Amino acid sequence: MKSTSLTSMDVVHLRKVTEAMVALPTLPLVASRLLESIADPEAASSEEIGAVIALDPALTARTLKLANSDFYGFPRKVGTVDLAVVVLGPDTIRDLVLGAAVFQTLDPSWKTLTGLWSHSLACGVAARALADRIRYRLESEAFAAGMLHDIGKVALRQTYPDRFDAAVALVREQGISMSVAERGVLGSDHAEVGGWLAERWGLPGDLVEAIACHHRPEQARLNTELTSLVHIADWLAGRTGNSWPHGGMPGSVSQFAWECVEVEEEDREPLLEDLVPFIQRAVRQEQELFRHFRDPQEEGK
Ligand SMILES: [Fe+2]
Ligand SMILES: [Fe+2]
Repeated sequence: MKSTSLTSMDVVHLRKVTEAMVALPTLPLVASRLLESIADPEAASSEEIGAVIALDPALTARTLKLANSDFYGFPRKVGTVDLAVVVLGPDTIRDLVLGAAVFQTLDPSWKTLTGLWSHSLACGVAARALADRIRYRLESEAFAAGMLHDIGKVALRQTYPDRFDAAVALVREQGISMSVAERGVLGSDHAEVGGWLAERWGLPGDLVEAIACHHRPEQARLNTELTSLVHIADWLAGRTGNSWPHGGMPGSVSQFAWECVEVEEEDREPLLEDLVPFIQRAVRQEQELFRHFRDPQEEGK
């Protein structure tokens, strides 16, 4: 994690909190290969994405299950990953696999934080929609950054379940922000911890920064536009009814972030108003997609 955004006191606290996190699993190869493909058009073809998914038998089975579901209604049986990627579209399948692989790595039972999963999905969808509106070059990168922005919460919950739950309770009782509650209870917050984890996982620098700085976009250095997109998308996720935990202080969108994405003051509220129903629909659709993508054993959980 870049020391420029942290004071020496922050570094000491972060080190203390992350000491126990070295036991967390590493990022699956499939997820890191898919993340690499985002910035590399050569590696983002259907064949390449299919080849990466084929590395993992469980993900292959899920992909085939989705491609053969009623949701798509493809007239004949889809028997190979290559055809499944063509039917589903390489971007759709990459977004699904990435989100599922990362969350399941950190929370194998897939049960602890379903509200956080919805929040993350909404943030990813909002970041992608916003990227489209402001003509940000890589919509898939915006989705991945939005989807992963709060991984620090999952990591904290897995490592310090009691203290993390105490922070959530504080948010609900006192209406404070999650970062303030985490700092009080744990000494660090999910953005710092998420940035640390993303770096340890070898994620691209732009993503590490967007995760680490999503509550403080003015501290970004590498890609202020991406971090600002995620910051606004995080707020939009709350506005569409997908905040987590509920009851926290919603905060406001940073002036810096708006300036970075070059939306003039008078255009901001109309843009948000316009995006909310679009994002709500897209989130419902992604949730439905994801339902078909889950392992058969997970159904009903
Ligand atoms: Fe956050
Ligand atoms: Fe968030």
